[in-house]
Amino acid sequence: MQNSDKKKLSTEPYKGVRDFYPEDMFLQNYILETMRTAVESFGFSEYSASILEPAELYEAKSGEEIVHEQTYTFTDRGDRRVTLRPEMTPSVARLVAARKRDLAFPLRWYSIPNVFRYERPQRGRLREHFQLNCDIFGVPNIEADIEIISLASAIMRAFGAKDTEFEIRMSNRRTLKEIFNKYNLTEEETIRAYKLLDKKDKIDDFDEQMQKLLGKKLSLSDAPDNESALVIEKLTERGISNIRFDPSIVRGFDYYTGIVFEVFDRSPENNRALFGGGRYDNLLKIFDVDDVPAIGFGMGDVTLQDFLKTHALLPHYVPTTDLYIATQSTEFIEYGEALAEKLRVEGINVAVNLLDKKLSDQIKTAGKQSIPFFLVVGENEITTKMYSVKNLNTGKEYSAAESHIAEIIWSDVEGE
Ligand code: HAM
Repeated sequence: MQNSDKKKLSTEPYKGVRDFYPEDMFLQNYILETMRTAVESFGFSEYSASILEPAELYEAKSGEEIVHEQTYTFTDRGDRRVTLRPEMTPSVARLVAARKRDLAFPLRWYSIPNVFRYERPQRGRLREHFQLNCDIFGVPNIEADIEIISLASAIMRAFGAKDTEFEIRMSNRRTLKEIFNKYNLTEEETIRAYKLLDKKDKIDDFDEQMQKLLGKKLSLSDAPDNESALVIEKLTERGISNIRFDPSIVRGFDYYTGIVFEVFDRSPENNRALFGGGRYDNLLKIFDVDDVPAIGFGMGDVTLQDFLKTHALLPHYVPTTDLYIATQSTEFIEYGEALAEKLRVEGINVAVNLLDKKLSDQIKTAGKQSIPFFLVVGENEITTKMYSVKNLNTGKEYSAAESHIAEIIWSDVEGE
């Protein structure tokens, strides 16, 4: 078959995943750096792990829905069942369990992995997202619960969010368990009841389905249990008052054991949670080690971006390149490159024209790439050793000797 007869490939990415063009990458880096700065200020250290994990890791405790309906699982050439991580918690639990004897608890660990879930793509939900995970290991008392929720609030504030724009909703698995115990449910039915409650806002006949499962109408108390009340009180004392007890927060994973919480945008446009987390005091039992108490959360980049867009908190794109060196003709490219080398030493990020293009087209290229500064290298510049440095955003022009170009760029940037 002739090459031209072959079906042309689509340029679309795989369903539900994103490409990151430079402008998107700028935003993504802003998000990741803001997260990093905020969590490191709380004394968290970064860890990482592979995207690939043995499938059993999730089958042990994550929960039916995520394992049977949402994971990307395949068999490798050695007949091992492998899963693309749908979340980070089982991986971090594995890392901690593996070195439990050597680690100095309490641990404050974070990571920003990409995770994969086979979901129906929609607003706030994709098949691949990046998720900041922050977890504290080795603290059984509520100080850790308070700190982890304070951290969630600090991250939102670091993005410029006002407390009135988001809300932390909290509940307690222990209390929910007591409530469901009153209905004489088996363990399996209790898990089904959690799952149903977790989907409360997404299904129309929630009340009917719950009544069928319980045998009578569900009655949830709106009053917080003692532990939740104390956490809320302490957080309020620390200046975090956009938190409320909400018994319908249960969380979808089976491993949670105590306080659970989610963070929501107050704007009705974004009804998906920005964060989800809670206490999981016996997940490490799935490995051959004693329990280590743990609490943490995951915060997704997709819902965060929706939030930032809704509240006009997205930063403007600034490219990493500072200066574009245009050339009068191709014979000056080499000279341009040599000038670029000198400026790079002074910390300026420089791109040089490489094509046989008119100067007006070279300006257009620099402008389209949002590169702020522009200068031309030609016969004149080489003889006089003087350059005209232009700020393409403001139109301001400077005449500069080679040794002053960097200085002029720095002071112009500072003056803006
Ligand atoms: P999760 O609630 O499944 O928790 O996910 C945490 C956050 O990740 C969600 O609130 C949401 O922002 C984002 N997220 C989840 N799924 C998607 C998706 N399909 N598309 C876009 N964003 C999504 C966990 O994963 C727990 N392992 C968190 C945790 C850490 N608990 C304790 N430590």
